[in-house]
Amino acid sequence: MLEPRAEVRAMAEYVPGMSLRQARAESGREQLVKLASNESLWGPSPRALDCAHAALTDINYYPLVQESSLAEALSEREGIPAQNILVGNGADEILRLAAMAYVRPGDEVLYPAPSFSAYRHCTLMAGGTPVAVPLNARGANDLRAVVATMTEKTRLVYLCSPNNPTGTAFSPEEWDWYLDHVSDQVLTVVDGAYHEFCRAPSPDFRAAIKRGRPVLWVRTFSKLYGLAALRVGWGAASPEIVQNLMRVRDPFSVNSVGWAAAYASLQDPQYFTAVLAQNWAARDYLSGWLSGAGFSVFESEANFVTFNVPKPDQEVAQILLNQGFVVRPTTSFGLPGWIRITMAPQPIMEELVGVLEPLASG
Ligand SMILES: Cc1ncc(COP(=O)(O)O)c(C=O)c1O
Repeated sequence: MLEPRAEVRAMAEYVPGMSLRQARAESGREQLVKLASNESLWGPSPRALDCAHAALTDINYYPLVQESSLAEALSEREGIPAQNILVGNGADEILRLAAMAYVRPGDEVLYPAPSFSAYRHCTLMAGGTPVAVPLNARGANDLRAVVATMTEKTRLVYLCSPNNPTGTAFSPEEWDWYLDHVSDQVLTVVDGAYHEFCRAPSPDFRAAIKRGRPVLWVRTFSKLYGLAALRVGWGAASPEIVQNLMRVRDPFSVNSVGWAAAYASLQDPQYFTAVLAQNWAARDYLSGWLSGAGFSVFESEANFVTFNVPKPDQEVAQILLNQGFVVRPTTSFGLPGWIRITMAPQPIMEELVGVLEPLASG
């Protein structure tokens, strides 16, 4: 039999949140709310939808390799020069490009655990050695433990803040300390997929990038901007790092419908200010209710809330599925006994609390 590379055999398949189709088949219910993959329950901006529709008329042409208007709009909004910005096929692609461009066979790659599965996966794909660093007691990335785990073989560090699946973020002080202790021979990739939802003071990643530190800050249009299916993410880093990532990127990895919708989203800030405010209100409401009902809850800075349950998490997910809610048990992240729930408009949150109530009492 033809064998793949040993690293490929060691890779676990990605475990996604249950799809609506699968959930309907399993529960026998037609009416379900999917709160399992941290998508936006508010949907994309109407402007983005209009522009995506308009872009369909040109899909017989290849997209641009880099759509400069999107990089320029991001540059203006973020206060980062456009040459420091790279757009890709979701944050997922940018995370992978970092490993493909920088990790050599045998190099060590550090990543938080429990966290997003892509870090280990990208490491193995590049032939690197994955080294998991446990989260701290708050459920955030433990930057002191990351530094303590580094060796001369460490080449890349993935960080995730706010962290998935806990939702907790590290502080500006923790980040500054980390920067003072990490060598410039190590690329630090900060996955900021949930950055927009962070209400706590956030580290100044832009400043580190502008100072030329080897930091790649990864962002996405899949979460707040509601474009998960169109696959648009972006990263900010030094122009040299951006160029190296472009060398290993597929030339047409971002499709023209995605370019158009992402650009239009940036032209509609009022829509997203309103969505963000509702997200925060839902997070306060659910976290507050859960704590009051006696559940342990991580202090989330993301668009989801994760809490401890008194029964196996898959069993609780099944109970909730039978009552119309698709949620995410976190065993597959290496966090058994917890449930992660994506934020949704208030009436849905209230209905959900009604379904959670019996779990609190028994
Ligand atoms: C921490 C984290 N990073 C990256 C991603 C992937 O984002 P994208 O849809 O932009 O590829 C996700 C998606 O759930 C995520 O949770």
